[in-house]
Amino acid sequence: MKDLIDQIVNSACKEIKIINDSRSLEEFRVKFLGKKSELQNLLKKIGTLSKEEKPVIGQALNKAKKTIYELFNNLKNGLEISEQDSKLKSELFDLTLPGVKVPIGHKHIISKSIEEICDIFINLGFEVKIGPELETDFHNFEALNIPADHPAREDFDSFYSESGQLLRTHTSPVQIRAMLNEQPPIAMVCPGKCYRRDSIDATHYPMFHQVEGLLVDENITLGDLKGVLESFCHRMFGSHTELRFRPSFFPFTEPSAEVDISCVFCGGKGCNICKNSGWIEILGAGMVDPEVFKAVNYDSEKWTGFAFGMGVERVAMLKYDINDIRFFYENEIEFLKQF
Ligand code: DAH
Repeated sequence: MKDLIDQIVNSACKEIKIINDSRSLEEFRVKFLGKKSELQNLLKKIGTLSKEEKPVIGQALNKAKKTIYELFNNLKNGLEISEQDSKLKSELFDLTLPGVKVPIGHKHIISKSIEEICDIFINLGFEVKIGPELETDFHNFEALNIPADHPAREDFDSFYSESGQLLRTHTSPVQIRAMLNEQPPIAMVCPGKCYRRDSIDATHYPMFHQVEGLLVDENITLGDLKGVLESFCHRMFGSHTELRFRPSFFPFTEPSAEVDISCVFCGGKGCNICKNSGWIEILGAGMVDPEVFKAVNYDSEKWTGFAFGMGVERVAMLKYDINDIRFFYENEIEFLKQF
């Protein structure tokens, strides 16, 4: 019996060495220390032994039980610590690690430029209006004195829907919407997207932005137009900026003008950007044509007004020295981050 006890202890010693998780350790406990274990069976047989054998075997059994229990208990403590350890390792984050930076975006340079332009006009007493990008022929052309056979339509070729509407070619139709909606006095600017069937190059894109302006009241003169545009250009490009009005033609204004500013790159001395003229074109403008007033049922004997329209991309390119319109729309993050 003594040999049997030694064998049990020996195999317990062997088996415990290969246990590395608490589930196998529990199996070990049941096998060697449980109610149906070999040691327990031997303990039950103790009554059948002789008087001399009883204490010897009893002692040996107790010792074996104690040894195996210690084996079990030591490993149990060890396993608990290492299991806790690895649980902690998998759950805890390292507080000493540097944080992960979440990149925060900002407004696109075109949105910012629109806000900058509109803010200047808001300060001059204009209100901001918005019009639809899908327009009717009436608002985009007819009411602006561009009838179907007018050659000016060629400059405004656009994308038409099957219903005959078109993606607006300029923001000027918002003038018509404003005048049909309300009576003078009106002082409004309208920023927004425009579309033309243009091929893409450094200064053209089939989608671009304009800010339109309209002021209608009694006794409005070309002098008022000049004053407003001068204030705008001084605030946008600096107070040293000079303005020049060149006679031009738009069907919806009479007289019409192209407005130039002194070149922002050379200060008017002449450089390759202003083609040595010292001037850079910035917008179109003029006095509202009586035909336009007629289309919106305004009395052109009573009311006079001026209008203007500028390209936002162009203004931004001049202000921020950007030489290609495509930069705005290529989602080149290094470019966009600069503004
Ligand atoms: N709509 C014109 C264009 O896209 C720009 C323009 C010129 C607007 C003169 C005006 C204006 O309001 O008076 O080319």
